[in-house]
Amino acid sequence: MHSKGRRQKAPNLTKLLDNKPVIIVSNRGPAEFRRNEAGNITSKRGGGGLVTAMTAVSEATHATWISAAMTDVERSMAKKDNLIGFPENNPLYNVRLVDIPKDIYNRYYNTISNPLLWFIHHYIWDLCNTPSFTEETHKAWGEGYVAANKLFAEAAARESLKLKNPIIMLQDYHLFLAARYIRELTSEPFLFHFTHIPWPEPDYMSILPFKVRHQILKGMLANDIVGFQSRHYAGNFLLCCESLLGAQINWRKRSVMWQEREVFVRTYPISIDYGNLHKISESDEVLKYETKLLKENADMSLIIRTDRSDPSKNIIRGFMAYDVLLSRHPNFKGKVKFLALLYPTREGIMEYKKYRREIEATVKDINERHGAENWQPIYLRMKDDYLESIAALKHYDVLLVNPIFDGMNLVAKEGPAVNKNDGILILSENAGALSELGNSGIIVNPFDIEETAAAMYRALTMPMYERKARAANLRETVEQNNSLKWIHYQLKDIVGLEKKRMLEGV
Ligand code: F6P
Repeated sequence: MHSKGRRQKAPNLTKLLDNKPVIIVSNRGPAEFRRNEAGNITSKRGGGGLVTAMTAVSEATHATWISAAMTDVERSMAKKDNLIGFPENNPLYNVRLVDIPKDIYNRYYNTISNPLLWFIHHYIWDLCNTPSFTEETHKAWGEGYVAANKLFAEAAARESLKLKNPIIMLQDYHLFLAARYIRELTSEPFLFHFTHIPWPEPDYMSILPFKVRHQILKGMLANDIVGFQSRHYAGNFLLCCESLLGAQINWRKRSVMWQEREVFVRTYPISIDYGNLHKISESDEVLKYETKLLKENADMSLIIRTDRSDPSKNIIRGFMAYDVLLSRHPNFKGKVKFLALLYPTREGIMEYKKYRREIEATVKDINERHGAENWQPIYLRMKDDYLESIAALKHYDVLLVNPIFDGMNLVAKEGPAVNKNDGILILSENAGALSELGNSGIIVNPFDIEETAAAMYRALTMPMYERKARAANLRETVEQNNSLKWIHYQLKDIVGLEKKRMLEGV
């Protein structure tokens, strides 16, 4: 039975922490602050899986969340150097914004973090042509990425010195170096880093300049525990430490000995806030979108995808597979529709602008070739509208999640959690979600267009009893885990390791 609205019993994090304070550090914070026409500061929920998960965590642990100031309003808020209680109407945790000068931020985010590290970690370089590291890249590394990591580290160390034995939880690829700089400023906090994206194999990692990859690995090894989405990605990290850094690995304990310290490498598959997602999925706004969607697509089978318009999401190969499906099975014309609900992302980066143009051109071509007067094969939406996406996820027959590589991919979990149609998940074998959802989805090689088209056909023609069984399994699996359990396992390991060290006098 669909467990509509049922909430997971939240693990008792306060008891586990026993008053230990938590500091979260991430590039993007929980909200975007802007000034409205009346001159008042307003806030809008930040996007992405990291923000969703860390919001639940911050509320449950009453954390201090340090993130970069991104808008002018945020920069002026950061200059005041105070903690901002958040959410404003019912403060549950504190936000501290870090003012990173625009030129540093631009190099750190638009030259290094996204075009370089994101591309390495998702294996999306076209190696015959890119990347080429120039003076500009090396400058952006030193004056952008290193400089920004130092500023985050200073802010974290400053907050940490006000607290007793805090736990600092660094998030993602923007902050690979921060632990090392925090350690130079204070030895007190427990340092934990979680990588939300894949970790590549050593050969691919070695594309990075020698100095860069060494600094990244050494930066990571300044933590006490490093966490990854899957055992496979954690294994890749261990291999990189061994072969690129010459560090000593204990494969049984899954730890690295580095500069007389033992760093533990652990796996924590991230999940969604199941209860909250259900609440949102039943809100009036979502219901309004749902009514519209059902009216516009009556009697239509729906293939849905919702993603940031990111090259790693493999959006174009998804359309190519649909093109094959329509060519091979023209009886689907007029009876099926592909809703691609995409969010524009990182538009300041050339590769992303180009990818967006390619998406639009592919959709236009397919719609022109297969469309008819009263039927458009693909509906493309390029707008950040989370609520419309949730409304659509409730009604897919087929959910396409075919990334080239992905840390986890939370859409693969959000979809089955809210879908009311016993819809089928088509899942890339390179998404972190595979280990949890692989048994109940249809698994595809994301590069294989034939296989993806066949998976679409199979999903659209699958008998109802099989759909129901698969959808129920997916729902149950997603419901078992949630973002609080995800953090619970991390905090349990942190607290456990601290106790062990205390007993051993380390
Ligand atoms: O982990 C990857 C991530 O940080 C996710 O939270 C989110 O999907 C995306 O990257 C957000 O990217 P950006 O902050 O650059 O918009």
